[in-house]
Amino acid sequence: MFKVEPIEATFGAVLTDINLAGIDDASFTELYATWLEYALLIFPEQHLSNEEQVEFARRFGDLEFDLVPLSNVRADGSVRDDNGNDDVIKVLKGNMGWHCDSTYMPVQAKGSVFTAHVLPPTGGETGWADMRAGYEVLDEKMKVRISDLSAYHSLYYSQAKMGHIPKEGSSYKGYGFNNQDPPVRPLVKVHPETGRPSLLIGRHAYGIPGMDSDESEQLLQELVDKACQAPRIYHHTWSTGDAVLWDNRCLLHQACPWDMKEPRIMYHARIAGDPLSEFAAPDPH
Ligand SMILES: [Fe+2]
Repeated sequence: MFKVEPIEATFGAVLTDINLAGIDDASFTELYATWLEYALLIFPEQHLSNEEQVEFARRFGDLEFDLVPLSNVRADGSVRDDNGNDDVIKVLKGNMGWHCDSTYMPVQAKGSVFTAHVLPPTGGETGWADMRAGYEVLDEKMKVRISDLSAYHSLYYSQAKMGHIPKEGSSYKGYGFNNQDPPVRPLVKVHPETGRPSLLIGRHAYGIPGMDSDESEQLLQELVDKACQAPRIYHHTWSTGDAVLWDNRCLLHQACPWDMKEPRIMYHARIAGDPLSEFAAPDPH
């Protein structure tokens, strides 16, 4: 069986002696349980092909989308200009804020399989933050205060806040930007498989019903600032061939800056959430 080495944080483990491309059912069952426990699993030296990555991700359930490159490199191999006009660069920079994937969609993602293909010499790490521990560390008064609160989640909101409005005809205009009826999600999410409560916050959250926008912004920022601190965070310095699997139902994540003259090519397979537990409706009012 594979080796599990916990990282120095409240979550996360590095798994070795495992070949994700050829994992058998017994090992997968063990792996799934390990994932629920640690929320973030890092698999060095996997060198998964695109097909192998999709196949592995599918073992966790239906995919929200098969595979997208998260990259500043165009299909023709040229590096995109970081001149403030490129919509893909705007999305990559948006990803540098702490966030949860697809909370702005009707069904938030279950998790992701992420792989490193081309890396800059420095920078470009990915960080994760444990929102289970982020909830636990709150004092009782704050736990009570947020227990019945919710927030809207919108990618349009989070990008616009950075001044990034998608251009007409942009390929990034569609996914997540066209939701004009943003879902409202509780600030405290109970994990559907472990039963553990966690904070559901991050850059896509705004407009807590019952608060004015300043009060809402202040509270949401206070929660992110408190939760996203050591020992509840981990930033991974990638090596080519690494694969990472994370639970999007209890972790936030962020990309870290790098010199965008340097190419960085990552591939992301997004596992769909369960509509029974990850669906959120728009505010009925
Ligand atoms: Fe993301």
